[in-house]
Amino acid sequence: MSPTVRDPHDGGMHTTTPVLDPAHVVPANPALVQARDLTRVWGKGHAAQIGVAEVSLDVRRGELLAVIGPSGSGKSTLGSLIAGIDVPTSGSLVVDGTRIDQMKPDRLADWRGAHVGIVFQQFHLLPTLTAVENVELALELARVDAGRRERRRRAIEALEWVGLAAHVKKLPAQMSGGEQQRVGIARAMVTRPPMIVADEPTGALDQRNGHAVFELLAGLTSVGTTVVFITHDLHLAESADRVVSMIDGRIESVRGGA
Ligand SMILES: Nc1ncnc2c1ncn2[C@@H]1O[C@H](COP(=O)(O)OP(=O)(O)OP(=O)(O)O)[C@@H](O)[C@H]1O
Ligand SMILES: [Mg+2]
Repeated sequence: MSPTVRDPHDGGMHTTTPVLDPAHVVPANPALVQARDLTRVWGKGHAAQIGVAEVSLDVRRGELLAVIGPSGSGKSTLGSLIAGIDVPTSGSLVVDGTRIDQMKPDRLADWRGAHVGIVFQQFHLLPTLTAVENVELALELARVDAGRRERRRRAIEALEWVGLAAHVKKLPAQMSGGEQQRVGIARAMVTRPPMIVADEPTGALDQRNGHAVFELLAGLTSVGTTVVFITHDLHLAESADRVVSMIDGRIESVRGGA
């Protein structure tokens, strides 16, 4: 028998036929990142350099995932693939429902602007732009549909969120490393991307500033942002939801989570 449901708009009783067979319902909240057998190599034969080899990994929505491992183990290569900065030699990669493993560079750049915030170890702020202009630029590059004033409002809001309300008009050279990295985080989150990939964002900072940067990134997960946090700092990694440990381009272990 078909279920009887009450239409909230007219109060009447209707009989409906279910249109969705549960077997065909796509889970409402699949992993944001689904990497399967991701491989990135440069060169061929004996000269081949392996970045990552056959890495399979799901990253959940709203998860803070730390990636650790020795130098050369493939952390940055994996981060670049997930962020759509680079494309794999083979394997499949779905991020936020889109397959990005074979995207052409132009499309990938557009996709990246709208879907990923990237935080670098060396901040990578434009030296001739003020803090607020650096953040606004991310909105322009992501082609966010907002006028000049609205872009400025959002950029200031992002800078306030990272605690830099008093520094919006400063040039990068007029700020400390910790402050510059907070501008970097404001720039990464101002477009409200579903994911932020941070490659050793605390690597150039002292312990106190590194911790503050980690806390800001962790805070973004509470609004559903997925954060991939590449780090050499095992202490910070322990505070993540899960820790992926890499060695020789492969995942050695995944700890934490269910
Ligand atoms: N463009 C490239 N061409 C050739 N080999 C590369 C390239 N980029 C990375 N590799 C190689 O891929 C491997 C993984 O490098 P990757 O930068 O991902 O390591 P990492 O874990 O981030 O190291 P680190 O902790 O030092 O940042 C290394 O052996 C590296 O030499
Ligand atoms: Mg690296």
